[in-house]
Amino acid sequence: MDLSIQQIQNDALKEIGKAASLRELEAAQARYLGRKGALTQILRSMGSLSETERPLAGKAANEAREAIEAAAKARKAELEFNELNRTLEEEPIDITLSGAKIPVGHTHPLYKFWNELNEIFFSLGFSVAEGPEIEFVKYNFDMLNVPASHPSREDTDTFFVDDELCLRTQTSPVQIREMLKRQPPIRIISPGKVYRRDEIDATHSPLFHQLEGLVVDKGITMASLKSTLDYIAKRLYGESTKTVFRPHQFYFTEPSAEMDASCFVCHGEGCRTCKGVGFIELLGCGMVHPNVLRACGIDPQEYSGFAFGMGIDRMAMFKYQISDLRLLFNNDLDFLSQF
Ligand code: DAH
Repeated sequence: MDLSIQQIQNDALKEIGKAASLRELEAAQARYLGRKGALTQILRSMGSLSETERPLAGKAANEAREAIEAAAKARKAELEFNELNRTLEEEPIDITLSGAKIPVGHTHPLYKFWNELNEIFFSLGFSVAEGPEIEFVKYNFDMLNVPASHPSREDTDTFFVDDELCLRTQTSPVQIREMLKRQPPIRIISPGKVYRRDEIDATHSPLFHQLEGLVVDKGITMASLKSTLDYIAKRLYGESTKTVFRPHQFYFTEPSAEMDASCFVCHGEGCRTCKGVGFIELLGCGMVHPNVLRACGIDPQEYSGFAFGMGIDRMAMFKYQISDLRLLFNNDLDFLSQF
């Protein structure tokens, strides 16, 4: 009996060692330890043995079963390890390759510049005021002191909705809305879209962007205007930027001016960016006209203010040296991805 148990164990260990797959291993294990397995048969036939033979044979059979189980467990680990190595070698995934790039967008250059402008004004204590793009003719022109006969009020220049409404041609009506809403001190900027009946070319578009500014308080002077706007130009285009104020005419300011800044490329020498002039026109500005203050219920004897309006598109084009306004609007990814 002992001998046959020994034989079964030897055969089992040999077969387990030869098993080339997990399936083969399972089959080998079943042939010896399964319900109808060789060793199981022997254990079942123990009853027919004598009292003295039985414990010895039982002990041998248990030892054989333990040895077979241990061998099967070791072989299983070996086969699993081989299988893992095989898959790693055969599967066509190269885990050392970098992954496919997912394209990520970024802020449009116009809005990048817009945000930069906002940040500069926020640091000076300005806050943003908003107004509608479909505006009362009264706010867009009348209350801004623009005479009824002014050519900008023709329907060849302005998109009218009806007699009372138009697409705002400037962000200046937000001044009116703000002053009607509250008494000074007022310190606001208002960036937004404006509309004019212009043909599209390299410097014109029927839709463009402006940023309006308004400061009204006691003791506001032309010096407040010049120092504020000079500071803005230096923050935008560099500490060495120089500004020049040229007299101009706007109906809602008196006196009025246009501010030019020295070209940040040539610093005033004259180059392609500034078309040889050395300076670039940046904005219109002036001291708020007493008629405008009065129309909004603010006493011009007590308060004074300055206002300014700049073209965001123009200034962004200047800053990023973009030569054609249309590039800002036609969503050409080759162009946009440069920023
Ligand atoms: N609204 C003017 C324009 O569209 C720009 C402007 C000039 C705004 C002078 C102002 C200002 O507030 O004071 O050309």
